[in-house]
Amino acid sequence: MSAERDWYRDEVRQIGTDYASVDEVASYDARMRKIRDVEAENREILSLLKVSSGSSVLEIGTGTGAFARTAARQGVRVTALDISPVMLAYAEQCVKKEGLSGIRFVRAGFLSFEAEKESFDGAVSGLALHHLPEPWKAVALRRVADALKPGARFCLNDVVFRWKPGEAPEAYFARIVELAPGSRKNFARHIAEEFSTLEWIMDGLLERAGFAIEHKSCQHDFLFSYGCRKK
Ligand SMILES: C[S@@+](CC[C@H](N)C(=O)[O-])C[C@H]1O[C@@H](n2cnc3c(N)ncnc32)[C@H](O)[C@@H]1O
Repeated sequence: MSAERDWYRDEVRQIGTDYASVDEVASYDARMRKIRDVEAENREILSLLKVSSGSSVLEIGTGTGAFARTAARQGVRVTALDISPVMLAYAEQCVKKEGLSGIRFVRAGFLSFEAEKESFDGAVSGLALHHLPEPWKAVALRRVADALKPGARFCLNDVVFRWKPGEAPEAYFARIVELAPGSRKNFARHIAEEFSTLEWIMDGLLERAGFAIEHKSCQHDFLFSYGCRKK
């Protein structure tokens, strides 16, 4: 990084768990599949994106590549980004095993990917945006909007809080930590240390980045799914 850009966030520094090996990722994948219906989530995302065979989709924070694989099976071309080389290695292994084509994996993230302006038919990101603090979420969302064709959709799934200023934190945070699917301990750490934001801030961030929110749903009072259209 040049001295002139020493203010730019280094997104490669992981917040939360940094998986050190493909075996660790495999056990994360197995754990996720116990607590989430990943295939159903991915089918819903594809229908919200309104893309079809031959369309090009940008995925930011692909992780194990599950969405990219579901999309590729339907003929959608995916540029799948992640900052973690271990996640990318695992995702590439899965693609190879299945013999899929049409997925391009790139080591990059929200703040560093390179894309031609208005080049993608859709974009998606699951459980990754909360790795960035607020101002950088705004920069990231604007970069995603710039990469999309006008009218294209962006699906964002993430942990977002419904806590309202004035509400006792115990009434909300102490309650949702008990609702966490999977590990309570991991979710408590997520709430305390990571950068998940509040619903009204996320709505504003999306709108100010140039998106119209077409769909919003929420599970367990903290797992949000947004379907947005680039204005
Ligand atoms: C919890 S995993 C989610 C993976 C997958 N999208 C899913 O829904 O299961 C979050 C992923 O985001 C990646 N990540 C973290 N910071 C990122 C950034 N700034 N840009 C892109 N990906 C990032 C992590 O390496 C990790 O693979």
